[in-house]
Amino acid sequence: MSKQYDLLVVGGGPGGYVAAIRAAQLGFSVACCESNAYADPKGEPRLGGTCLNVGCIPSKALLHTSHLFEEAEHGFAEQGIAVGTPVIEVGKMLARKNAIVKQLTSGIKGLFKKNKVALLNGHGSFVGRKQADGGDVWQMQVGDDLVEAKQVIVATGSKARHLPGVLVDNEIVCDNVGALDIAAVPKRLAVIGAGVIGLEMGSVWRRLGAEVTILEALPEFLALADVDVAKEAAKVFAKQGLRIILGIEIGDVKVSQKGVSIDYTDKEGGEHRLDADRLIVSIGRIPNTDGLAAEQVGLQLNERGQVEVDAHCRTNLPGVWAVGDVVAGPMLAHKAMEEGVMVAELMAGQAGHCNFDTIPWVIYTSPEIAWVGKTEQQLKAAGIAYKAGKIPFAANGRALGMGDPTGFVKILACAASDRILGVHVIGANASELISEGVVAMEFGAASEDLARICHAHPTLSEVVHEAALACDKRPLHF
Ligand code: FAD
Ligand code: NAI
Repeated sequence: MSKQYDLLVVGGGPGGYVAAIRAAQLGFSVACCESNAYADPKGEPRLGGTCLNVGCIPSKALLHTSHLFEEAEHGFAEQGIAVGTPVIEVGKMLARKNAIVKQLTSGIKGLFKKNKVALLNGHGSFVGRKQADGGDVWQMQVGDDLVEAKQVIVATGSKARHLPGVLVDNEIVCDNVGALDIAAVPKRLAVIGAGVIGLEMGSVWRRLGAEVTILEALPEFLALADVDVAKEAAKVFAKQGLRIILGIEIGDVKVSQKGVSIDYTDKEGGEHRLDADRLIVSIGRIPNTDGLAAEQVGLQLNERGQVEVDAHCRTNLPGVWAVGDVVAGPMLAHKAMEEGVMVAELMAGQAGHCNFDTIPWVIYTSPEIAWVGKTEQQLKAAGIAYKAGKIPFAANGRALGMGDPTGFVKILACAASDRILGVHVIGANASELISEGVVAMEFGAASEDLARICHAHPTLSEVVHEAALACDKRPLHF
């Protein structure tokens, strides 16, 4: 006898669990199956996907601890606090991180109970479609059970891309999973890929004392970010001792019990070797459609292996949707969640909505980097006339008081309409400050609107205010 639901969500990451909760709130009978990639000691499915288990949350826990360590080592003294030489107990740091992960992943189980979402333990795969009294249903295999559902949301996420021929054992050669669990600070850490994971995890282990070298294939640093932000970030990271080598090509990678030896060619064709005790490979992620049996039902994938969807996350199959990292767009937890909510609301006949133009990006380095909307180079390339207001944190009393005056806020607004087209922040608490830019852009605000809003004093948000004023060349404190 099969289990029957209105909706089966395949995958319990941010896209899947949020879609399941929202659909249940809207009155659907919902099940979510999770293949339990992140081993639970009791063998129970762990919800939260990459984000809670081996992504956003554990990495931010380590970033916080390592930031405090670095402050204690280098920042406290100039404020007159003498603590001696701090010592990092890596085991304790990892245990704290694991406790946070456990608390949050079990919290989602609680949310499922509260919202009456059935949690099914097992890998979901398509079996077929069958005609039933109440309309056609999708048949899915989940573990040993056959499940029938009128609608299916594929939210199977992504996994780390590996270098061909270089085995990831998560001991010597790590992807994101091992990078979050290194048991002792390595003396020399090599990272391949200066993207978001490379910079965040490279920062964690550098702050704790590792000599970190990041090898990046692209000749340009942080190509996705605004060009001014990328320049400032490169300058600050170099000063911190994060060695980033751009425009390289990886050759032979030799791995032994002792470490790695990486041959690479530089921009000029010069040949080099980098020896390190550990290697983190962070060269992007690939969509996860393993064992989904997409071909069994003709679920269309694109050339990048992502499930092909329209702007409303509809696939080519009736009643089958896909959200999150398994579809195109930025691989971000909040984007996955937005799509999950949108799909649940569309299923209920509501006007589900996801504004892909106002999805913020954050890199949790120190200083933090955050942006929303267009970069200056994108506006130039598109031939859009714009004005810019840029104010440094060094002109802000709160930033100085915090001992954190690095970076700036830059607002880009349309020259003709004054509408805000992009907000870029590099500096303390950029991850929180960017929300003001998101709200402004979501409501179609002009820089003049932000300039007219009262900002509390003394706060870092005053730099956003001043940048808005600077769009009209009338900053008050710079
Ligand atoms: P996932 O979180 O990958 O979840 C998919 C789930 O589906 C998994 O639990 C998997 O086990 C399960 N599954 C797969 N196939 C099946 C199947 N056939 N049947 C049943 N279950 C299946 N994003 C941010 O926004 N902010 C951050 O700070 C951030 N930090 C990150 C740090 C790291 C180190 C990494 C790796 C990622 C980070 N991300 C961050 C990205 C974020 O984790 C992902 O964008 C997000 O988890 C995607 O959610 P998802 O639900 O689409 O997929
Ligand atoms: P990424 O796409 O951010 O960066 C990968 C980098 O590796 C790129 O700069 C690329 O040019 C480089 N690269 C690719 N192949 C290479 C090669 N062979 N040799 C050298 N360099 C090579 O991917 P990353 O860092 O693995 O992270 C994956 C995704 O996870 C991110 O894109 C992001 O969506 C998400 N994430 C988000 C975070 C956040 O929101 N703060 C934190 C961490 C991850």
